[in-house]
Amino acid sequence: MNRLIDTSTKISSLILKNPFILASGIMDEDAGSMIRIAKNGAAAIVTKSIGVKPREGYANPTIVEVDCGIINSMGLPNPGIDAYMEEIESIKKKTSVPIIGSIFGKDEKEFCLLAKKMETYGVDAIELNLSCPHAKGYGLEIGSNPKKVENIASKVKSSVNIPIFAKLSPNVTDIVEIAKSAKKGGADAITAINSVKAMKIDIEIGLPVLSNKIGGYSGKAIKPIGIRCVYEISKNVDIPVIGVGGILTAEDAIEYLMAGASAVQIGSAVYYRDVNIFDKLDNELKGWMKKYGYKKLSELIGLAHKKQRKVII
Ligand SMILES: Cc1cc2nc3c(=O)[nH]c(=O)nc-3n(C[C@H](O)[C@H](O)[C@H](O)COP(=O)(O)O)c2cc1C
Repeated sequence: MNRLIDTSTKISSLILKNPFILASGIMDEDAGSMIRIAKNGAAAIVTKSIGVKPREGYANPTIVEVDCGIINSMGLPNPGIDAYMEEIESIKKKTSVPIIGSIFGKDEKEFCLLAKKMETYGVDAIELNLSCPHAKGYGLEIGSNPKKVENIASKVKSSVNIPIFAKLSPNVTDIVEIAKSAKKGGADAITAINSVKAMKIDIEIGLPVLSNKIGGYSGKAIKPIGIRCVYEISKNVDIPVIGVGGILTAEDAIEYLMAGASAVQIGSAVYYRDVNIFDKLDNELKGWMKKYGYKKLSELIGLAHKKQRKVII
C-alpha cells in the first residue's frame, strides 16, 4: 500500500527518490562507507568537507557525548582535494545516487578551485561549507559575513555547471540576511543548519573536554533551532531549503518539511540509530503519510506557512 505514497522530491536539478540525504561529516570520507549508505536507501550523499590540502584535524578528544546530542571539534580532517578524486570516481562507478561534494576554503579562489575539481571528478552538486563552527579561518568565520558569502557563491556559480548549495550556520544574528546573500550570489539552494557552537567542561579536572575547547553541538537538542532557521529562510528566500539538525525519526523530518524544507539531511542519527536508518525513515514517513491521508511529499512542504490557526472569539 505504501507504494502509492510518493516521497520523491527535487532540489534544483537533482531528483531524489526520497527526502533523506546523508549529511556532511558522517561516514562519508571514503567511497566504501558512502556506497554502504547509498545501498541502505539514502537519496543522496554529501561528502566530508574537502579542502585544498590534506588536514589532520585537531588532537583527541575531538568528540564528546552530551545530553541529547554530541559536541564535535574535528577540525575538518580530510585527505585534500587531489587525493579525493579516487573516492568520487569509485563511488560514481558503483551507485547512481547523486553525490554532493562538500568543500571548504579560506577565500573565493580556494572555493572555485575545489568546486571545479569536484565537478571534474563527477559530483552532481556542490555544497559550500560556510558554517563550520570550529575551524579557524574557515566556515563560520566566512559564513557570518554577507558580502563574503555573496562573493563566494557568485564566483563558484560562474566556475561550474552544476547546482551549488550554501550550508549556513545558526550562529549569526540574522540567518535570513546570509541566505539572501547566498541567493544573490547564485546559490541554487540553502542547507540549514550546521552544528551549533557549544562546549563541555569536565568538572573532575576543571578543563574543557575537547582539545579545541569549543565545538559544534548536533543531534536531538538542536532540532528546534534548525526548524526555526528553515522556517525563516523558506518564508523569505525563494530557493529550496535542505533542513538538517537533530533528525532521528520520520516525525522530525516531517516537521522540517512543514517548516519549508524540500529535503533533509541526517547526520548524528546515523550514530544513534544505524546505517540502515535511511530505508527505515522512508518507510516510517510513508506510513505516517498514509495514516494522515497525504499522497505526495509536496503536500507537506511548507505546510506550516500555508495553514492559518483558527481563532475562536
Ligand atoms: C562528527 C561530525 C562531523 C561533521 N563534519 C562536517 C563537515 O565536514 N562539513 C559540514 O558541512 N558539516 C559537518 N558536520 C555537521 C553535520 O553535517 C550537520 O550539519 C550537523 O551535525 C547537524 O545535523 P545532525 O544533528 O543530524 O547531526 C559534522 C557533524 C558531526 C557530528
